[in-house]
Amino acid sequence: MEFLDKYQKIIAETIEKYKFKDMPEELYEPMNYIISNGGKRLRPIMVLMGCELFGGDISKAMKPAIAIEYFHNFTLIHDDIMDDAPTRRNKPTIHTLHGINAGILSGDGLLLKAYQFFEDLEPELFKTCIRIFTNTGLRLCEGQQYDINFETQRRVTYEDYLQMITYKTGVLSAAAFEIGAAIANAAFQDAENLSNFGKHLGIAFQIMDDYLDVFGNAEQFGKKHAGDIFENKKTILYLLAWENATENEQKELDDLYSQKTDNVEKIYRVEELFRRRKADEKTLQLVQKHNEIARNYLDKINVSDEKKKPFIELADYLLKREN
Ligand code: IPE
Ligand code: IPE
Ligand code: MG
Ligand code: MG
Ligand code: MG
Repeated sequence: MEFLDKYQKIIAETIEKYKFKDMPEELYEPMNYIISNGGKRLRPIMVLMGCELFGGDISKAMKPAIAIEYFHNFTLIHDDIMDDAPTRRNKPTIHTLHGINAGILSGDGLLLKAYQFFEDLEPELFKTCIRIFTNTGLRLCEGQQYDINFETQRRVTYEDYLQMITYKTGVLSAAAFEIGAAIANAAFQDAENLSNFGKHLGIAFQIMDDYLDVFGNAEQFGKKHAGDIFENKKTILYLLAWENATENEQKELDDLYSQKTDNVEKIYRVEELFRRRKADEKTLQLVQKHNEIARNYLDKINVSDEKKKPFIELADYLLKREN
């Protein structure tokens, strides 16, 4: 997509420009490895889009945008440790290459670099952005903790799940747009609507992520196939399958999710159950639903339809994504 390519190019160039050259390299090399290794760069794009939507100066939003990408990559390094994930973006994860200590520290390093990248903003704006950023980071930790709790929690409701993904994923895309809007000095209500657009886009995004984990093409997705099933994650696929299962099937699912194993037999059986109970189709319908909720917030923003076009394109792109 044209406008995404344009933003992605600027972000790639800026990340390259700020490549870490500090020492010791055992700390900074993994930081460079993860941030230079692509990814869709959606969240920094959201900062820039939020700024541009309200007529702000893109160059002023550039370092905060990079900060959000550093932060996102920090969460990924630590998430991969927690989820025991061997690969990301089709490359070995940092803890797999260099051990858990390197994963913890290089993640910490990226989090702190993220804070530094807000420093150029004037004091009032700095304060606003840091407040959004820190609140978001804490929410994200809460979401991640729920995600881990749910692995061993027997009953997880749809409401529990929705809160968990809102925190671990929704709030960061909300914050990215909000920071962009703040830099452009947008009106409160407009910024709020854009933030809600981002939150629901993030929710749809995470539901899609759960779907792709099992039903995506692992080569394109760049992560281990069915990693969530191996880890007993209470994803939307699991919840929908359980809800629509017979009593015997529910018992089978409970049993399959009661311990961790590397046995692929578990994956075959769970996948078969997911399909039999149409959890795959129902999940895609939910992605659509949350996309529409997001769209409703976009509609409310007081700017021309012309200016909203890239936001609709972004939402459409996320619906069709395969990576
Ligand atoms: C992965 O995010 C983490 C989730 C919230 C599902 P992305 O899919 O945006 O990761 P990259 O940065 O594009 O690799
Ligand atoms: C990740 O959820 C959310 C954050 C990284 C905060 P997942 O654990 O599903 O993300 P992936 O699938 O590993 O990218
Ligand atoms: Mg993970
Ligand atoms: Mg996780
Ligand atoms: Mg996932």
